[in-house]
Amino acid sequence: MPVLGRRSRLPRDLALLYSGSPLSDRLQVSLRWRSCPFEAVAAFAPPAGEQLDLGCGRGILANLLALRSPGRAVRGLDPDPRRIETARATVGERRNVSFAVGKEPAAGTRFAAISLVDVLYLLTETEWKRLLRTCRHALAPGGILLVKTMARRPRWKAAIDRFQETLSVRAFGWTIGSTIVPPDPDALAAELGALGFRVSSHPIDAGFPHPHLLLVATLPAAATRP
Ligand SMILES: C[S@@+](CC[C@H](N)C(=O)[O-])C[C@H]1O[C@@H](n2cnc3c(N)ncnc32)[C@H](O)[C@@H]1O
Repeated sequence: MPVLGRRSRLPRDLALLYSGSPLSDRLQVSLRWRSCPFEAVAAFAPPAGEQLDLGCGRGILANLLALRSPGRAVRGLDPDPRRIETARATVGERRNVSFAVGKEPAAGTRFAAISLVDVLYLLTETEWKRLLRTCRHALAPGGILLVKTMARRPRWKAAIDRFQETLSVRAFGWTIGSTIVPPDPDALAAELGALGFRVSSHPIDAGFPHPHLLLVATLPAAATRP
């Protein structure tokens, strides 16, 4: 089922959260919103329960999820302390969202959903396979893993993505990462399947210059460990 993406302005309630952030952060958040279909990703998140956005950056998706449903308790984790500082400054009095520096969920937590939005392309194959396994073990039975990645087609969109990430990771050092190669979506889906997930694939790139692809991976309600 294709889910149409559409570029839109940063919603007012989300923009307000960043209104006290430095101008450079506000610009980055606004540009990021315009280049990534966050609403299409959020549409697949459960309306309630503990949710983790791993590699949350400045907290856009975590904040969107928390704003749209008070029944969600959303945690954002990212290894970059500067991005987490920006994200934390948005929390204010809200109790259903929090941010911390880190790469992995604390042992013993069981989330209803975990999202990975444009994180795996920064990891080697060994690293992303390990991270998927970690996420698998941090999900409750019936839990959902949302993996937003990039497709390899159309080629012109994949080329735009490669060029932009080369600048961001290699030239400017804005983003922490070991590589800049999105995993092959088929290999990603196969790995998720081997971990016991039922996987569906959703192109969410309509209206965007990047080949956004969302893999929705769902665990059986009574989970068996691989
Ligand atoms: C392209 S940014 C995406 C940020 C956010 N998910 C978004 O969509 O705005 C990639 C993020 O992954 C984080 N990251 C890098 N290596 C990571 C790792 N091993 N585990 C989790 N996050 C990582 C980076 O610090 C960065 O914030």
